[in-house]
Amino acid sequence: MTGASTSGTNGAGHVASHRFLIWGGDGWVAGHLKTLLEGQGKEVFTTTIRMENRESVLAELDRIRPTHVLNAAGCTGRPNVDWCEDNKETTIRSNVVGTLNLADCCFLRGIHCTVFATGCIYQYDEAHPIGGPGFRETDPANFAGSFYSMTKAHVEEILKHYANCLILRLRMPVSDDLHPRSFVTKITRYERVVDVPNSNTVLADLLPGAVLLAEHGETGVYNFTNPGAISHNEVLALFRDIVRPGFMWSNFSLEEQAKVLKAGRSNCKLDTTKLVDKLREYGYEVPEVHEAYRRCFERMKAAGIQ
Ligand SMILES: NC(=O)c1ccc[n+]([C@@H]2O[C@H](COP(=O)([O-])OP(=O)(O)OC[C@H]3O[C@@H](n4cnc5c(N)ncnc54)[C@H](OP(=O)(O)O)[C@@H]3O)[C@@H](O)[C@H]2O)c1
Repeated sequence: MTGASTSGTNGAGHVASHRFLIWGGDGWVAGHLKTLLEGQGKEVFTTTIRMENRESVLAELDRIRPTHVLNAAGCTGRPNVDWCEDNKETTIRSNVVGTLNLADCCFLRGIHCTVFATGCIYQYDEAHPIGGPGFRETDPANFAGSFYSMTKAHVEEILKHYANCLILRLRMPVSDDLHPRSFVTKITRYERVVDVPNSNTVLADLLPGAVLLAEHGETGVYNFTNPGAISHNEVLALFRDIVRPGFMWSNFSLEEQAKVLKAGRSNCKLDTTKLVDKLREYGYEVPEVHEAYRRCFERMKAAGIQ
């Protein structure tokens, strides 16, 4: 497969029973997963084999023989999901055909498959207004304003019937640096930002939880964010207070934002009760989103990031 590569490390002191294979190996979340697993001394491989190529996927699974696949591959669009509006077949090939194919191949080989999915399949509605209850895993998607979100919502409906699949719904992920894919980096660079409370995924808090869930063989759908919701202005104010003194920004309304976007954007709060309760069983606590941001920005400050 042209351009596809695989790499592996065998961390010191790993427990031989678990063998992780990260799909979408060159991606942003994939890189964080690899660093995390290596830091935990786990045996981890990455691959860039295209998910939709069934023979190549099966051959890769048979070659590496992982116990756990972590699927962090997906078509996210560049510079953003607007790209998917004009490239629908390519988006379907990855986010629908590819994602299902990889889950199916893992099922056939008896491999646990964790899918890094999205919670951007909801928008606030009458039953889930701003400040009200969040969307639960069982609530049907109600946002199809972007083709990207539409593919992700549809594929989840099928994927959740695979007995080997764990589906983790990330939203607006944040890293402890100013990587261009981090939500914080994005909103600090926009000319103007909206100000709406949202559920966010602080990767440093959530990715260790993903490993725990996968290692314990958990399956099904989980809202995969910090508890609570935080608005853009709250994030930026914390960023200014802790990371970059004097930082200023401008707001605009959702209506004004819609004029500069090709596709719609999801704004919602997810209910994290299922995730928090499950991780607590394994002795792992996920901090509330405001506290999570405070800690994230303190880590950035300590690392000299401005
Ligand atoms: N970042 C976010 O805001 C966010 C939010 C919620 C959920 N997620 C989901 O989390 C996952 C990882 O996101 P990310 O931010 O790490 O994205 P990313 O940096 O764009 O990484 C995705 C990787 O997947 C690869 N890929 C795409 N289609 C593929 C296919 N058919 N077969 C194999 N590899 C393929 C891409 O390779 P090429 O570039 O070569 O295609 C890229 O290396 C995605 O599924 C994304 O939808 C992301």
